[in-house]
Amino acid sequence: MINFREIIAKKIAKVVNLEEQEIQEYIEIPPNQEMGDYSFPCFKLAKSLKKSPPEIASNILEKLENGEEITEVKMVGGYLNFYIDKTLLVKSVLTEIDEKQENYGASKIGNGKNIVVEYSSPNIAKPFHIGHLRNTVIGNSLYKIYQFLGYHVIGINHLGDYGTQFAKLIEGYKRWGNEYSFEENPIEDLTQIYIRINDLCKQDESVLEICRENFKKLENGDSYCMDLWQKFRDLSLQEFQKIYDLLDVKFDSWNGESFYIDKIPEMEARLEKAGVVTKSEGAQIVDLEKQGLGVCMVRKADGTTIYATRDLAAILYRAETYDFDKCLYVVAYEQNLHFRQIFEVAKYLGIPEKCVNGLEHVRYGMVRLASGKMSTREGTAVKVEDLLKEAVSRVEKIMAEKNPEQDQKEEAQKIGIGAVIFHNLCNNIIKDQVFDWDTALNFNGETGPYIQYVYVRTKSVLEKAGFVPSLQDVDFAQLTDTASWKVISCLEQFPEILQNVVSKNEPSILARYLIHLSQSYSNFYQENKMITEDKTLTNSRLYLNQAVGKVLKIGCELLGMKMPHKM
Ligand code: ARG
Repeated sequence: MINFREIIAKKIAKVVNLEEQEIQEYIEIPPNQEMGDYSFPCFKLAKSLKKSPPEIASNILEKLENGEEITEVKMVGGYLNFYIDKTLLVKSVLTEIDEKQENYGASKIGNGKNIVVEYSSPNIAKPFHIGHLRNTVIGNSLYKIYQFLGYHVIGINHLGDYGTQFAKLIEGYKRWGNEYSFEENPIEDLTQIYIRINDLCKQDESVLEICRENFKKLENGDSYCMDLWQKFRDLSLQEFQKIYDLLDVKFDSWNGESFYIDKIPEMEARLEKAGVVTKSEGAQIVDLEKQGLGVCMVRKADGTTIYATRDLAAILYRAETYDFDKCLYVVAYEQNLHFRQIFEVAKYLGIPEKCVNGLEHVRYGMVRLASGKMSTREGTAVKVEDLLKEAVSRVEKIMAEKNPEQDQKEEAQKIGIGAVIFHNLCNNIIKDQVFDWDTALNFNGETGPYIQYVYVRTKSVLEKAGFVPSLQDVDFAQLTDTASWKVISCLEQFPEILQNVVSKNEPSILARYLIHLSQSYSNFYQENKMITEDKTLTNSRLYLNQAVGKVLKIGCELLGMKMPHKM
């Protein structure tokens, strides 16, 4: 594909003392077409050149070489506006899409690099709450996008399947397990048992003591305790799996916290060797006061391990097993301090520098439910499975109203789930998110269903025409009107958008892009007749139709959505 940014940057680099790469980063796309197709803001150079931006602009303009790709360069204030040969770009973009098909935007930049993405990571015997849902959706899309860009990706569900709470649960189960069926809602049953035993522990110190004993037994592999722990884990996973199935999310590894227990001694030995472990009131700690991060506990005074201990062992294991270039933790921003601490301590584990530098907390904001049925209870109490199913049934209702004859279950599934996925990704992930049905399911808003709707439209246009033109039948010059051009320039950006997503670990960049592409397509569709008297014009517009459909599909699937055939 012709890279106009690169061409422009090359020309500018010849006349100013600046790296081509840097110039490329400065180049902008002007808000409207009258201001050119690309623009170079000269005030970025004002400081270093000690000249005013207009002065710099006119100096550059004077020396700039001509070339066939750029038809005109105009100076406006401190900006240089470039007008490119549009036909050339139309041809270049459509040819690229034609060649790459479903792989348009894919790349090899990630080849040879290993990326660990840790996501979802719910806690056993506790509800899978809507925060975990957001997390799952974010991680899943990052996984797919990295993979599409050629990285070798390892997706890990770091289950919260270890800790003293299981010792309590074992005790509770022993006492009252037969009162519960564990069928309809096993996690709810386990939660109830946990609440009861916790209360009892508070009243009766001797019960707490028994629980402590249970934990030791569990750590030593006592078969009764292990069996129960396994049972809780299995029951929970069965429940979680229902959600993963609805979302169609998969993991390469389910190694949760318990997996790292036998790997802790090696991790500790390394910290010992580095000389950073000290004793404080019987506990083993790493003092991070100097870094302003408090202390990171590695082992409690009673000899048991904590959350951070297992995370440190996991870093060591992952560095050795996956030789990762990045290890991304998709976890709510609440755990900020925890990750800053363990990333600091990781410097002393003796793992490769690139692994230490590759540790990254991908923070996301909280999710809250807006008013309505589901908000009457705490967010954590909402069954995510119910929420997903409700999304589907709401969509089914909307569709039945529009088109009563057809059974559209399958499509409603894709739209309902897609709506929830998109809603979780459409804003910067660090922002808190309010989940509200009307916004998420609005077919005309900036939503998943809207994009799917536009996609279906591109299909139906082709269906109506009865054929899909081939690239040879396209007259590129006929796609340079403002409306078509906006679509083309959007399509051109797609590969770069994906690279921006991974450089910031921000899938919302892709989500916003897809809205933008859908809107420019809608505008193109409104402005232009698809089937015209002019055969080549028809071919050209139809071709653009199918190109948009293709890119919408690739993009949505990278977010984890599925595309309906009808809507
Ligand atoms: N299980 C934790 C929770 O639900 C999240 C785990 C995050 N990952 C990690 N490596 N600490 O809050």
